[in-house]
Amino acid sequence: MTSNVRCHPFDMAEELQSEVMRVLMSGQSLQGDDVTQFEQRVAKMANRDQAIAVGSATDGLFFALRALGIGSGDAVLVPALSFVASASCIVCSGAELVFVDVDQSGQIDLSVAKSRITSNTKAILAVHLYGSMLDPKKLIDFAQSNKLLILEDAAQAFGSSFAEQPAGSLGNASVFSFDPTKVIGALGTAGVIAVDNNDLAAKLKAMRYHGKTSDGFVHLGYNSQMSTLIAATLNLKLNKNAEWTAERQRIAVIYNQAFLSLPITLPDSPQQVNHVRHKYTFLTEKRDDLSRHLSKYGVPSRFHYARILSDEPMFKSLENEDYPIARRISATTISLPSHAYLADEEVDRIVSAVTSFFK
Ligand SMILES: Cc1ncc(COP(=O)(O)O)c(C=O)c1O
Repeated sequence: MTSNVRCHPFDMAEELQSEVMRVLMSGQSLQGDDVTQFEQRVAKMANRDQAIAVGSATDGLFFALRALGIGSGDAVLVPALSFVASASCIVCSGAELVFVDVDQSGQIDLSVAKSRITSNTKAILAVHLYGSMLDPKKLIDFAQSNKLLILEDAAQAFGSSFAEQPAGSLGNASVFSFDPTKVIGALGTAGVIAVDNNDLAAKLKAMRYHGKTSDGFVHLGYNSQMSTLIAATLNLKLNKNAEWTAERQRIAVIYNQAFLSLPITLPDSPQQVNHVRHKYTFLTEKRDDLSRHLSKYGVPSRFHYARILSDEPMFKSLENEDYPIARRISATTISLPSHAYLADEEVDRIVSAVTSFFK
């Protein structure tokens, strides 16, 4: 099969191998210079003063909530449509989880969020779903006018921006994920917290290793460090980020154009958004049948997310509100392959598989 594969990760096998050997020889398994370098590069991309590498975005969200002083007696707003970690971190912190419905594009609806505020509400955990980005001005105005802290869940949005303002640059703390499925995937799990406040950064650095400072074990934390090996390979992959993003965006344009006349709702985001296309999703009432049809053509598809968060067993007892838009998206959304090493013939096959279903 001829292929135009430009950025297949196996293209990097040799480079990755030599990085692995270099780190092994250095003897710096944890907190090596590669970790510091990765932190600095992420901080720069996110327009932040400091970035703190941790074991996962899940840990990053939990540490950030704790370091911001959020816990028992506080309430935190979070969209009803996201990955479970956006919500479970709030429960882990001891705070009350308050779900908010989303808008038609799947992002938290700030006008609904307003109606969910009580005197206990301390923060909004804003998720940039699918690699899109919320309007920074609207989010900041909302938080300021309601005296809320902002925790940005940018797990899916590394590299995205809104009118040149990068995801990860907003509010009190921001978290990125580098798990293997994300736009830059680590050889394992990995996350980064980005902040502008030195005291907060020092606290977060301590929390990732049992709260240790020069005074001893000061803050309650646990062990969630990024290995030097993971940081070294992430640094290498970071060099490809712009190229990979451009390729995912090119493929999204091909999908959009090919699907224009189909009876589906195409993904939508404001013009100012540089959507990194972590996920390519669209809505169709027939998505279960479509998904089965696609698998016959060897095309994998996923539902992000097949359940709204308040329907997940662990959250069911907490809630009795409904979230009609999140529910509708959840029942009709389908995600197609979106990564930089899809060959042209694979994109063609995906397009024909989708279009043939609607004929
Ligand atoms: C929106 C969102 N938040 C948080 C996470 C958690 O990231 P991690 O796997 O690095 O813990 C994910 C990962 O899928 C995610 O998609």
